[in-house]
Amino acid sequence: MKHLALSLALALVLAGCSEEQDSAGAPPDIGAGQTIAQAQCVGCHGLDGRGTAPGIPHMAAQDDRYLVESLQAYKEGKRMHAALRDMTTELGVADIRNVAGFYASLPPLKDTAQMPEKAVSPYDKGKASAGVCARCHGEAGNSTTAGIPSLAGQQPRYFVSAVRAYLDGNRSITGKEMLRELSHVDLESLALYYASQTPARREAPATGDPAAGEPLSARCGGCHGAHGVSHDSATPSLAAQDAQYLVSAIKAYRDRSRRHDAMLTDNTDKEIADLAAFYAVQESAAAERGEITVQELAAKCDRCHGPEVANPTMAIPKIEGQDRDYLIKALRAYHDGKRGSSMMHRMSLPYSEAIIESVASHYAGQPAR
Ligand code: HEC
Ligand code: HEC
Ligand code: HEC
Ligand code: HEC
Repeated sequence: MKHLALSLALALVLAGCSEEQDSAGAPPDIGAGQTIAQAQCVGCHGLDGRGTAPGIPHMAAQDDRYLVESLQAYKEGKRMHAALRDMTTELGVADIRNVAGFYASLPPLKDTAQMPEKAVSPYDKGKASAGVCARCHGEAGNSTTAGIPSLAGQQPRYFVSAVRAYLDGNRSITGKEMLRELSHVDLESLALYYASQTPARREAPATGDPAAGEPLSARCGGCHGAHGVSHDSATPSLAAQDAQYLVSAIKAYRDRSRRHDAMLTDNTDKEIADLAAFYAVQESAAAERGEITVQELAAKCDRCHGPEVANPTMAIPKIEGQDRDYLIKALRAYHDGKRGSSMMHRMSLPYSEAIIESVASHYAGQPAR
């Protein structure tokens, strides 16, 4: 499963979006609902259903069953929000149905679409930031400078941890300031972009003997993959890497100037040169296939959230034109397991945050319906 990481990331953004609850009952009394809204909700949700500050959801024209379920979830403590918990404990079943009915009956807000910039996919964002790295790491991360590592095809979790190691001072590099300027989302996006590039094949280096390196690599394959193509997102691929960089990296572990529990090595200089030559000429592969656009991503969400879906068994919220900060907060809550209950939410992935920002921008930029 080579492209596991991205599909998992999508699954995690999605997970928790499918819990069903039944909601039956009498039709709501809209007038009674409006009275409650006026007394208790207006300060935050307005009387037109508009969130009055970033992070507060809009509710106009929202699916009424979804609103009922959310209010029940706050009341039962399944969704956490102190103010709403207090308010909902005071509300009976009929009150909840009525106030939900009131907000659902309002016309969609006209001018919510926030389009400060086009929603950019994490891949494209990474590609844009990679410009400054190309000077040393080469076009699309294929380094042609001896001693400088290729980044093309590299495993994303390793990529992120390598940059962190420079920033934390656990590895040294000149030009650290450039890395410090990257935000967390930039870093995730770069990891996705580079992981998705195809590593170029390399000629045999001048020093070292690939044939002599092959048997020595038997000790490495369990972690770095057969022929140095890693299938673990935290373990770097070695295949098609610059040979001189490999030599200096292995020596750094040997003399303990670079430390990692997994990487204890006592190879001689000749063995290190042979291992590096062996790995340098291996064919590598992209760790990821991340050229996914926001539109492709949203197409997956629209299977449930889109206007064409009229699912009679599931209460699905409308998310077009929703407040961007609120969308980010909601998606993070699913991802972190703070909303919904799937165990998967607790896992962390290399680019979940970048994906969340992109889809949130996309939906916040759509007209409400
Ligand atoms: C103090 C401000 C405040 C007040 C007053 C308030 N809310 Fe909210 N409401 C919020 C915030 C913030 C959220 C988002 C909480 C979260 O992240 O779960 C929210 C979320 C909701 C949601 C979930 C919407 C969704 O898209 O998931 C519903 C439904 C809701 N409120 C209804 C009400 C009702 C009905 C009242 C009045 C009885 C009310 N709220 C009063 C701030 C408020
Ligand atoms: C001035 C040249 C230069 C520039 C520009 C540069 N790097 Fe590097 N980078 C290096 C060198 C040299 C190393 C190897 C350092 C070492 O031996 O640990 C390296 C190593 C790395 C590594 C670790 C690779 C591995 O296999 O462990 C990552 C990740 C990385 N750089 C990311 C970036 C990113 C992202 C950018 C752009 C924001 C960037 N670099 C820009 C020179 C550069
Ligand atoms: C027990 C698992 C394990 C084994 C066995 C192992 N490695 Fe590693 N190797 C790792 C991990 C994990 C890292 C990343 C460590 C870090 O972040 O510094 C790594 C990093 C490296 C790097 C740095 C790559 C880069 O891009 O900077 C090289 C080179 C390397 N290993 C070579 C080898 C060689 C050669 C062998 C066999 C002699 C070997 N490793 C055996 C797990 C292993
Ligand atoms: C299988 C159907 C399904 C798919 C696919 C799906 N969702 Fe959901 N989504 C739901 C349901 C059902 C809920 C309500 C869950 C709840 O009550 O917490 C929900 C809730 C949400 C919410 C919370 C809205 C609010 O007002 O609080 C957001 C945001 C969201 N989904 C975004 C997305 C995004 C982005 C995608 C695509 C990456 C997606 N969903 C894919 C069914 C789905």
